[in-house]
Amino acid sequence: MSFFHKDLIGIERLDKKELQFILDNVKAFKTLFTRNVKKAPTLIGKTVVTLFFEPSTRTRNSFEIAAKRLSADVINIAVNVSSLVKGESLIDTGKTLEAMNADYIIIRHSLTGAPEILSKNLNASIINAGDGFHEHPTQGLLDLYTIYEKKKTLKNLKVLLVGDILHSRVAKSNIWALTKMGVQVSVSGPPTLIPQRIEELGVKVYYNLDQALKETDVVNILRIQLERQQENLFPSVREYTALYQVTKERLALLKRDVLIMHPGPMNRGIEISSDAADSVNSVINEQVTNGIAVRMAVLYLLKPNKPNKTKTRQKNVY
Ligand code: CP
Repeated sequence: MSFFHKDLIGIERLDKKELQFILDNVKAFKTLFTRNVKKAPTLIGKTVVTLFFEPSTRTRNSFEIAAKRLSADVINIAVNVSSLVKGESLIDTGKTLEAMNADYIIIRHSLTGAPEILSKNLNASIINAGDGFHEHPTQGLLDLYTIYEKKKTLKNLKVLLVGDILHSRVAKSNIWALTKMGVQVSVSGPPTLIPQRIEELGVKVYYNLDQALKETDVVNILRIQLERQQENLFPSVREYTALYQVTKERLALLKRDVLIMHPGPMNRGIEISSDAADSVNSVINEQVTNGIAVRMAVLYLLKPNKPNKTKTRQKNVY
């Protein structure tokens, strides 16, 4: 199997065979984690740049560790003190980084489409680390891998996503990844936070969380974005927690071997109780660890374009 992609913008563009190929590569990279020397020379001489316009703990650091484990040089752009604040455009910033030989640019941006703009204008491989409400593909892949690793198979599995599906790029990437792999995906949350016509993606909707919890093999709890309350998309945090928090009481509804997941950062006491977050069924920390292997596999598999070479070889002048 070959994998011919310059960029990773979204899981929507990958097919089942490509997703399985990524999972197989993640598994291979994970074997490095138990060795004394956790490094491979794969990206020696390559430069990986992280360009984050929104806060991040997991994704940015995980990409940095992944790139360093593959022996790449890593540059973290501090957007707040870059020339972007002087009005430089995103494309000009990207071209400037490419002129410094950036081979991979990992971008997080509040605007849907920002990674796509860079991908169309640069030879460097562009990796979407989350754009607006669109996708967060490496989170979708690490969630998929964690389920596959823990359950040993994706066959006949039911996965439930709980919370703000409408604004969640994590939910979108999970839905694409899981449905392409044949997993039955359900969502549960306030009606105002469920996208209209989501059923057309092959997703089942439950407005009654308790019923959904009883039937699922995996529950992936999404962060509630508190600013949505100002937009009147849910009445109050108190009401949200009463109807949709995975509480200690609701844990009793779950199957004994259920996986409890959360992409982080968690709002303990809002969408997830500490009983759920710290339960023996929680794989939240494993998700973070798997994120490194997923990002190693993605960096390994993507192929930046070769820059245009000049026809005449220049003489070296010293
Ligand atoms: N899951 C996730 O994207 O976390 P960060 O915002 O910390 O990167």
